[in-house]
Amino acid sequence: MSGKARENFGSRFTVVMALAGSAIGLGNIWRFPYMVGEHGGAAFIIVYVLCSLFIALPIFFSESILGKSTGKDTFGAIESVTPGTKWKNEGYIALLGSFIIVSYYSVVGGWSVDFLVRSLTTGFAGESLEEASGIFTSMTSSVWEPLVTLTVFLGITAYIVGRGIEKGIGLFTKVMMPLLFLMIVVIVIRSCTLPGAGKGIEYLLKPDFSKIDGPAIAAALGQGFFSLSLGVGCVLTYSSYMRKEENVVDTGVWTAVFDTFFAIMASFAIMPAVFAAGLEPSAGPSLVYETLPVIFSKMGRVVPIIFFLSILIAAITSSISMMEVQAAYLVDQKGMSRKKATTLLFCASWIVGALCAVSTRIFSFCDFISSNVFMMIGAFVVAIVVGWKMKKSVVRNEFTNNGTGKGAGAVFPVVWFLVRWVAPIGIVIIAITNLL
Ligand code: PFF
Repeated sequence: MSGKARENFGSRFTVVMALAGSAIGLGNIWRFPYMVGEHGGAAFIIVYVLCSLFIALPIFFSESILGKSTGKDTFGAIESVTPGTKWKNEGYIALLGSFIIVSYYSVVGGWSVDFLVRSLTTGFAGESLEEASGIFTSMTSSVWEPLVTLTVFLGITAYIVGRGIEKGIGLFTKVMMPLLFLMIVVIVIRSCTLPGAGKGIEYLLKPDFSKIDGPAIAAALGQGFFSLSLGVGCVLTYSSYMRKEENVVDTGVWTAVFDTFFAIMASFAIMPAVFAAGLEPSAGPSLVYETLPVIFSKMGRVVPIIFFLSILIAAITSSISMMEVQAAYLVDQKGMSRKKATTLLFCASWIVGALCAVSTRIFSFCDFISSNVFMMIGAFVVAIVVGWKMKKSVVRNEFTNNGTGKGAGAVFPVVWFLVRWVAPIGIVIIAITNLL
C-alpha cells in the first residue's frame, strides 16, 4: 500500500459524471441504435430497461457497495470482505478484462481522432457512400495511420488517468459530459428535422413484440452490461473514490438514467438521418465511419465535427475508467506511483491495441472474450460475493447509508433478492445463450 491518503471525487456531481462517462461510450452510439431497430423498436427499449432494472442495476449497486464500503481497488475490496479466500482472484478478471477492452476500444477511439481531424480539415462534403467507405478502408488498412491515432487516443487516456482522480478523471468528466449532452441534442434536432426522418423515427419506435425472443433478451442484457461498464471493476474502482456521505443508490440510478437517456438520444441522432438519406441501418464501424460521414456532411461542415467530437469524448470518458481499474491496482497493491503506473499501462495497452489495429481477427477476438467471458464472470462473482459472502446487515447499511437513504430501506429486500438470485441466474443464462 502506498502511504498517501487516497483521493476522492470532490462532489456528487463529479461522481455521477465520472460514472456516466464510463457508461456512455461507443456502446451507446454504434451498438444500441442498431439493436433497437433490429429487435423490435420500442419493444426492445422496454426489454432493455427491464433487464437493466432487474439485473444490470443490482450488479451496479453491488460493485458500488464493494468499492465504497472498502475504499479499495478490486483486489483489495474483495479481499477485505472475504479475507483469506480465493474470491479476490476476481481482481485478475477485472484487470485482464479492462486491459483487453481498453486496448481494442482505443483503436476505435483512434479512428474517431482520425475522422475528427478529417472533418476539421478536408471535410467529407461531396463524398459518395463508396468514397466514404474507401476512406475508412484505406485508413484501417494503412499500417501507420491507425497506430498514430491509437497512440494519440491512448496518450490522452493515460495523461488524464495520470493526473489522478480529482484533477484528472473528475475534472475531465465534469466538464466534458455536459458538453457531450449538449452536442447530442444539437445532432438530434438536426437529424429529426430532415425531410424523410419520419421513417427512422418509426424504425426506432414502432413496437414489434414478435421480435422479442430469447436472443433479443440476451442481447438486451449483454448490451446493458457493456453499457453500464459492469464486471471489469470500473464501477467498483470509481465507487472506491466516493466520499462517505454519497450514496450508492442515487449515483447508480442517475448513472443508469443518463446512460439509457443518452443511448436513446444517440438513436434519434443517427437513425432518422440514415433513413432520410434513403440508406439502410447497420451496426458498428460501417455505420459510424462510412454511412454517417456522408449523411452528416450534407448538413454542413459543423455537424460532422460535432459528431466525431462527441464520439471522441464519449470514448475517452470510458477508456479512462478502464485504465483506472488497472492504475488503482498498481498504485494500491504494488505501491507504484501513478505516473509510473500510467506510463506502464500506456505501453502495455499500446502493444495489444496495435495488434488489434493490424488484425481484424485479434480485434474481434478481444471484443468477443471481453464482453462474453470476462464481463460475465466478473459480474457473476460480484453478485455472489455481495449476495452470499457479505453480511446482509453490512450490505443493507451501505445501501441505505446507515438507514438514512430515503426509500432505500423499503426497496432493499427487493434488491437483495435480485442480487442473490435473479442476477446470478440471469448472467449464467445470458452467458450460455451468447456463447452458443
Ligand atoms: N460502457 C462503455 C460503452 O458503452 O461504450 C464501454 C465500457 C466501459 C465497457 C468500461 C467496460 C468498461 F469497463
